[in-house]
Amino acid sequence: MKKLSFTVLLFILSLAAFGQSDFNILYGPYLQNVSEHEATVIWVTNKKAVSWVEMAPDDETHFYAEERPQFFQTNFGKKMIGTLHSVRLTGLKTGTSYRYRIYSKEVQEIQPYHIQYGKVVASNVYSAKPFKFRTLDKDQSKASFLMVNDIHGDNTLFAHLLKDEPLKDFDFVLFNGDMLSDIRSEQQLFDGFMTLAVQQFATEIPMFFARGNHEARGLFSTEFINYFPTPTGQPYYSFRQGPAFFIVLDAGEDKPDSDIEYHGLGAFDIYRKEQTQWLKETLESEAFKQAPVKIVIMHVPPIRSTWYGPIQVKKEFIPLLNNAGIDLMLSGHLHQHFYIPAGEDDLQFPLLINSNKHAVRVDVNGKQITLQVKDEAGKLFKEIKLQ
Ligand SMILES: [Fe+2]
Repeated sequence: MKKLSFTVLLFILSLAAFGQSDFNILYGPYLQNVSEHEATVIWVTNKKAVSWVEMAPDDETHFYAEERPQFFQTNFGKKMIGTLHSVRLTGLKTGTSYRYRIYSKEVQEIQPYHIQYGKVVASNVYSAKPFKFRTLDKDQSKASFLMVNDIHGDNTLFAHLLKDEPLKDFDFVLFNGDMLSDIRSEQQLFDGFMTLAVQQFATEIPMFFARGNHEARGLFSTEFINYFPTPTGQPYYSFRQGPAFFIVLDAGEDKPDSDIEYHGLGAFDIYRKEQTQWLKETLESEAFKQAPVKIVIMHVPPIRSTWYGPIQVKKEFIPLLNNAGIDLMLSGHLHQHFYIPAGEDDLQFPLLINSNKHAVRVDVNGKQITLQVKDEAGKLFKEIKLQ
């Protein structure tokens, strides 16, 4: 009996030792919420930490040439402790490149009058180049981005769609919803598509996300906005790059709120109504009115469906958008390619519904919009030019 207890104890001790992995960065960093004057850098550590970003201009100086300004995640005057680190960089100049370095200092124990710190980890600026990004610029004459949607956690498909694209040349990459079938955990979120996004571009190229109906499903779905923050704090928001003003809308779920699939938690009718009010105000803003090109992004298309969600967004959003001089709407959701020219299906603007098997390269040059729809092999499927 004594021998058995000793064996069990050894097993428990070895489990404990196994669990004590080194403090490190699990996921990221990636950029979110990049605008003309701000950017947010996000990453995840395997243990609680205080984190910060050091920033340097993109000039000839070595990162170690001087003390670089530090930016912390703070709340009500205190630096945040956690495993998800979301650091806002502020006071940036428009259309300007910056270099950055991330730091995390492990917090082992928190007492009211004592904090026990552990190891510090940071991204490498000694034997590797510091990370780099560029702020948005409304005065540049062009804007270009790549859109993918409905990946549903299929990393092979996602990798194929990104493979031949000059990702570092785009102003941003747009995820137009349903990158996962549901969000159950942080690990699933990264394993499903974000780790590949970080490897391929997201550390240095801004990424914007239009939430799909599937990102509203799963236990971890309520955390969505913490991993993909926006200027409004909501999954609907707007931004400007070059000549184009972008309105990102969220149609919510596709079935009535009472559907068995939502288990009594659906409240999308109220959500869409609140969003309609925000959309009205956005369409009235000078920032929107003065932009030469106006593009709306919404995962669920407002037409080509007889389901409740799309019918509601058609009722709520389309009368407003039809009177606002919209140049293009980009959707997904149907897993099939459709291009609907302006004037058809009750829409006064063209709508591209992108298939899950295609990536769309969008180039805005002055008033002209060029859409290149490419298949998994990188072959051009369709080119559309809008004046
Ligand atoms: Fe969808």
